Amino acid sequence: MKKIIALLIAAMFVLTGFAALAENGTLTMCTNAAFPPYEFYDEDGNATGIDVEIAKAIGAKLGYDVEIVDIEFAQCIPGVQSGKYDFAAAGMTVTEERQQMVQFTDTYATGIQVIIAPEDAAFESLDDIVDANGSVKVGVQMGTTGDLYTTWDYEDEGKGTVDRYANGAAAVQALLAGKVDCVVIDNEPAKNFVAQNEGLKILDTAYTVEDYAMAFAKDSAIYDDFNAALNELIADGTVQAIIDKFIPAE
Ligand code: ARG
Repeated sequence: MKKIIALLIAAMFVLTGFAALAENGTLTMCTNAAFPPYEFYDEDGNATGIDVEIAKAIGAKLGYDVEIVDIEFAQCIPGVQSGKYDFAAAGMTVTEERQQMVQFTDTYATGIQVIIAPEDAAFESLDDIVDANGSVKVGVQMGTTGDLYTTWDYEDEGKGTVDRYANGAAAVQALLAGKVDCVVIDNEPAKNFVAQNEGLKILDTAYTVEDYAMAFAKDSAIYDDFNAALNELIADGTVQAIIDKFIPAE
């Protein structure tokens, strides 16, 4: 009896689980597409950006279409782990904690957490705000490294509160509405948000440089081929050309 149940469960898994995966010629990529220039919507409402184009170039090399699914950033790792999506490409920082849950490709870009503040702000750092006001109110995108760092360094230390928004754009709107003192987010999206909105500026932080990579389930069947294709596209200059297209030289 136990055997039959196990077989039934296995059959259901094959029918439901694998149908969504690589088999049918399409790779499903999850991301959070409010993170320009890595993922955002163009004027026609299509998802585009560095991650989208690199993923599509890899897909083309391997003979797959890439379908983009826009979800909350915090759902990307669980979604990949459970097999709902083939991979996540979301300007995702490689961290030791995440490496317990997923396997990362090689790195294709770097980022650094910076602070967005009102243009007329007198402070230079989060500590300056704590010194002046006794505490700081930080806006972040939920589940990101900006969230983790400020939670550890300020909220857990009793030096402030961290407001977690569904995406970076929402955190920036909260800053514009005066609900938070500043937003901690990756540098390239920060530049985009400051360029798109009046009255904001970027401060530097001491946070270290982070490596971005795409995330796969540990048992992913496509991981090896995908990572090999990524490395070929790095070696032949395709990845750099895509980055240069979205991040014009200063
Ligand atoms: N690099 C940061 C992290 O991995 C933020 C990534 C947010 N990505 C996004 N597509 N919204 O935690």
